[in-house]
Amino acid sequence: MYNIRTLNNISEKGLNKFPKDEFEISDRMENPDGILLRSFDMHQMEIPESVKGIARAGAGTNNIPIDECSKRGIVVFNTPGGNANAVKELVITGLLLSSRKVSQGIEWVKTLKDAEGDISKATEAGKKQFVGPEIQGKTLGVIGLGAIGVLVANVAQKLGMDVIGYDPYLSIDAAWHLSSHVHKASSMEDLVSKSDYITIHVPLNDSTRNTFNKELFSKVKKGARLLNYARGELVETEALIEALNDGTLSCYATDFPMRELIGMKNVITTPHLGASTPESEENCAEMASKELINFLKYGIIKNSVNFPNCDVPYTGKTRISIANRNVPNMIGSITAVFAKENLNIDNMINKSKGMWAYTLIDTDNIDGKAESVIEELKKIDGVVSARVVIKEAE
Ligand SMILES: NC(=O)c1ccc[n+]([C@@H]2O[C@H](COP(=O)([O-])OP(=O)(O)OC[C@H]3O[C@@H](n4cnc5c(N)ncnc54)[C@H](O)[C@@H]3O)[C@@H](O)[C@H]2O)c1
Repeated sequence: MYNIRTLNNISEKGLNKFPKDEFEISDRMENPDGILLRSFDMHQMEIPESVKGIARAGAGTNNIPIDECSKRGIVVFNTPGGNANAVKELVITGLLLSSRKVSQGIEWVKTLKDAEGDISKATEAGKKQFVGPEIQGKTLGVIGLGAIGVLVANVAQKLGMDVIGYDPYLSIDAAWHLSSHVHKASSMEDLVSKSDYITIHVPLNDSTRNTFNKELFSKVKKGARLLNYARGELVETEALIEALNDGTLSCYATDFPMRELIGMKNVITTPHLGASTPESEENCAEMASKELINFLKYGIIKNSVNFPNCDVPYTGKTRISIANRNVPNMIGSITAVFAKENLNIDNMINKSKGMWAYTLIDTDNIDGKAESVIEELKKIDGVVSARVVIKEAE
């Protein structure tokens, strides 16, 4: 039986993934094997010795002490792409709102409540101010073709737009999912110079902060509309305001309110609603639960932020997992333990990610030697955790 402690309310859809005869789940579990959480701040809590994996239903993991977990061999998971559809739908909303003056029109209609005379005459007279172009046949430039960017590019293409994309680190998985009608821009400058609409879907880090600055705005096609549903800091505020004022941009639609932009008539802001759907919460809970189940039951790692993805078909009788520092001679030291015990290795995989590595070994039935093998593995300098994952009945 595996024990799971929840630190936040987790959607039933996620919790139902845990087979009831193998997992016990509670928010007060004493010695949990796994922890499931959303935004609970784990920095202040003592993580029990028994914990092997932590799954965050969501993308960010800054509420989890990753370094401490890595040093203890605790694998931390997140759920990338779990909210991608929710964000995609909001981006398409933003795309249409940036083009047709729908939100401005809605606000104006409210002012007619107390107006005198025939409301339909007033409507017909006033609607001229809210003319806006169709998106069909226009060019959309998508910067960052990950989970969200690919969905946005594909749906925009289906809406009749010409779509170009830019992502120098495009993953094979993303390439498989991207519509073949999406064309490649040769550079960010090339993309912004050709696009009537631009949408950015890259993570915020030191190299992407202020991607849109004075220099890049100078390359933007006059009157383009910029959508930013990724992070506010990807766009430099002063340069943005200048671009809005001098007509470089005809609209900026974003999910990240900023005091300087409030009240500007060509800015449309939502209050960080990208992932705010019940489905997105459920998707993330389901993904996090599956990651924890596969890790605890089979040693498989998928979507970890501190250890590498690792999977291998189970071929032996006993499966052992080892988390270790990514330093020379680890494999030699690990396999020496099996050699010393005269154990045959049926199958083995070793993967690394930055400073850390993870090994899965399928071996013969190790009879009464399991405990001593694990003890010997843990004694190796650089090994931070080792456990028997699957043990066939002897
Ligand atoms: N509005 C919201 O509520 C909300 C919700 C979820 C995510 N987000 C934001 O959306 C971002 C994208 O999410 P995702 O799930 O698609 O992430 P992802 O990791 O799947 O994709 C990011 C893509 O950006 C690419 N990239 C990185 N640096 C780049 C660069 N300099 N130029 C071009 N491409 C670059 C990567 O290769 C990757 O393909 C997240 O980082 C997050 O900040 C916002």
